[in-house]
Amino acid sequence: MRPDIKTDFPLFQAQSDQKPLVFLDNAAASQMPKHVLDAITEYYTSYKANVHSGIYTIGRRAVEAYENSRAVVARFIGAQASEIIFTSGTTASLNMLMRMLEDTVNEGDEVIVSGMEHHSNFIPWQELCKKRGARFTVLPLLPDGTLSLDIVRSTFSDKTKIIAITHVSHVTGTVNDVKEICRIAREKGAYSIIDGAQSAPHMRVDVREMGCDFFAFSGQKMLGPTGIGVLFGKKECLEKLEPSGFGGGMIRTVKSDISTWADAPAKFEAGTPHIAGAIGLAEAIRYIENVGGVDEIHAHECMLAAQAREMLGSISEVTLYGPKDSIHTAGIVSFTLNGVHPHDVAEVLARENIAVRAGHHCALPLMAHFGIPGTVRASFYLYNTKEDVRRLVEGVQQVISLFHG
Ligand SMILES: Cc1ncc(COP(=O)(O)O)c(C=O)c1O
Repeated sequence: MRPDIKTDFPLFQAQSDQKPLVFLDNAAASQMPKHVLDAITEYYTSYKANVHSGIYTIGRRAVEAYENSRAVVARFIGAQASEIIFTSGTTASLNMLMRMLEDTVNEGDEVIVSGMEHHSNFIPWQELCKKRGARFTVLPLLPDGTLSLDIVRSTFSDKTKIIAITHVSHVTGTVNDVKEICRIAREKGAYSIIDGAQSAPHMRVDVREMGCDFFAFSGQKMLGPTGIGVLFGKKECLEKLEPSGFGGGMIRTVKSDISTWADAPAKFEAGTPHIAGAIGLAEAIRYIENVGGVDEIHAHECMLAAQAREMLGSISEVTLYGPKDSIHTAGIVSFTLNGVHPHDVAEVLARENIAVRAGHHCALPLMAHFGIPGTVRASFYLYNTKEDVRRLVEGVQQVISLFHG
């Protein structure tokens, strides 16, 4: 990564030089480069108009920018523009999908998730099963919190209608073999749903190669603004599924006895979308591509995470979570300190202007698997440096001397 990359980010520029911010909560939200902020400001100051109004000049420009953004997102994940639905985030994408798929799950059917899911890819399916009288199966994990493909294979049955799995664990950084999981699902005639919240921002994603039916991610985790997300759906799936929301912008005809829907993706985007958000997300993707692309970003983050794991792992009070090998992990490191609550660790680190996340990370089933209330999580992105890792480890050592004397 370019060594001066932080200069592209106004938030880092606004920090004091004494204790520069070490931002390691990128799995929750990432920072925005000036390019993204400028693109959003330009929409609001030069051509703000609804994408549903426009014959006039700025209206046309808004439509063009919005649809171009869809095309940019589609290209980024190897999809067609018509397969990209803009939502407000991964959670919204998965909840919307749950409503879209409701009628395909009947009493006695089964929906499978894993024990490492974010609640956003767990509760919607649990609720769907409750409503439809279906079986909700949670794949058990191996001791290191990874998923066994043998267990995935043997869990599928003729009753399995959906499998919803995360691509990368937001807690341990484990990378799942989603291509194989999607292949198994296809063989069994079940829908495959991949939570890409922690993969799309950080590594190459090609939904065709992956073979998934649906893929969800959030703009704010990939240098874009909050409130914008994506649901990719395979063309043939979107064509046959019913919309989950109704209103303006999604219809073909409306009569007092019956209404019909526009083609996808419009049929799934009722109401005014987050136009500035979509424009910002597309600009974030252009930025990612211009600074070297996701492969380079992935390599950089994996290098930092491996270094953090090695340095933290050499401290006797530290317990690391997740697989030992760094080949199957992304740029996320979770750990605990003997006898110190994760919140206390985060609090002391915050005093040093080091931002980490502490708690259950919306993954209570995974915490139950590890038998802990929570972890401290450091999640890396393209602007983090080896100096950030050094400051983190130094901060952890300060916590140890404070609590262990
Ligand atoms: C794996 C995973 N799935 C889903 C989500 C939910 O994303 P959002 O809050 O942007 O909807 C997150 C957020 O941290 C996540 O890490």
